[in-house]
Amino acid sequence: MKKLRIGLIGYGFMGRAHSNAYRKVGNFFDLDYECVLQAACARDPEKVQAFARTWGYQSVETDWRKLIARDDIDAVDICVPNNLHAEIAIAAARAGKMILCEKPLSMNAAEGRRMVAAVEKAGVPNMVWYNYRRVPAVTLAKHLIDEGRLGKIFHYRAKFLQDWTISADLPQGGTGLWRLDVKAAGSGVTGDLLAHCIDTALWLNGGIEKVNAMTETFIKQRKHTLTGKVEKVGIDDACATLARFKNGSLATFESTRYARGHKALYTLEINGEHASIFWDLHDLHRLQYFDHRDQGIVRGWRSIHVSDGDHPYMKHWWVPGLQIGYEHSFIHQVADFLQGVASGKPASPTFRDALETQCVCDAILKSAKTLKWEKVAAVK
Ligand SMILES: NC(=O)c1ccc[n+]([C@@H]2O[C@H](COP(=O)([O-])OP(=O)(O)OC[C@H]3O[C@@H](n4cnc5c(N)ncnc54)[C@H](O)[C@@H]3O)[C@@H](O)[C@H]2O)c1
Repeated sequence: MKKLRIGLIGYGFMGRAHSNAYRKVGNFFDLDYECVLQAACARDPEKVQAFARTWGYQSVETDWRKLIARDDIDAVDICVPNNLHAEIAIAAARAGKMILCEKPLSMNAAEGRRMVAAVEKAGVPNMVWYNYRRVPAVTLAKHLIDEGRLGKIFHYRAKFLQDWTISADLPQGGTGLWRLDVKAAGSGVTGDLLAHCIDTALWLNGGIEKVNAMTETFIKQRKHTLTGKVEKVGIDDACATLARFKNGSLATFESTRYARGHKALYTLEINGEHASIFWDLHDLHRLQYFDHRDQGIVRGWRSIHVSDGDHPYMKHWWVPGLQIGYEHSFIHQVADFLQGVASGKPASPTFRDALETQCVCDAILKSAKTLKWEKVAAVK
């Protein structure tokens, strides 16, 4: 069994989700590679030591440059705020490391292009953690669409709603609140939440030709945690987008952190000529499916419990009828990445795939300023 020695940077939410995936993947998937938790890196020496003890990392670093310079690291996993993705990824590619980078790929498409050029020049395996592709019900949706069951697609409708930034007293910036600081996040809900919807949409329904969007920043000023001063808020708090896909279908996308009562409501619905599908993150193991070709007296929405051995990924888990959850999407992503490294057929989304999402996000943010339809730039 070959070893893949991981160097993880950032021990927050995603640092934990990924560490859990590396630890479990070999127990459930038959792979050529074994993940070795070689080193964890974060700035606070005591906290990173404690993290390494909890998750079983063999060593720690407090400077990501030192981690990348180490000969005993094969793959670098980037789990830090968005403004650090490009610098770390480009340095890691130059050092010949494989790279697993959190989403969004970058702060904007221009930065993303430099990242794609770096990994492609170095020829290193690379992937971006758009993990919702690997929720079995979403993967099943992809299979149904690719089989042609929906027929011609007319509509794509997705939203990602949260409610955690409504208070005007919430500061911006620093650990935990970097998502509200445009310098660390690049954008607000567009890059943070809508990017997930866009990635899934591009995967399920192909490229997006043009967009027309509006964004709003409801709270214009917030105290900055690092400077202590009240500063302008540069992120978008909410985003509503109309889009036209290259296949002629029409889309609406919405993301906000101001939908009181919603914590992480990611839903998507696709309406085709023959059939429709609907998926909801809060009920992630189910896919709702309506097929007009069913016999009239039994025609209706079916709620498919995606837990059978012939459903995507499910044969690796328990017995039919027993569901899995959010964390498993990361385990599936690691399994696919390792299979891609072993076979030479890279798992998606690669940096190049994720750049397409970045181009859509850029067009959305541009349209919100120009108040016009904006074409999505080509990746090439
Ligand atoms: N795939 C998903 O569903 C998903 C979910 C959440 C976050 N994310 C992405 O993951 C990334 C991290 O988000 P998070 O929620 O884990 O954030 P977090 O705030 O929980 O953790 C960020 C970590 O980065 C560390 N960090 C910051 N600057 C650093 C530096 N210079 N060197 C080393 N470590 C540093 C922080 O100490 C912290 O441990 C972001 O890009 C975010 O968009 C993706």
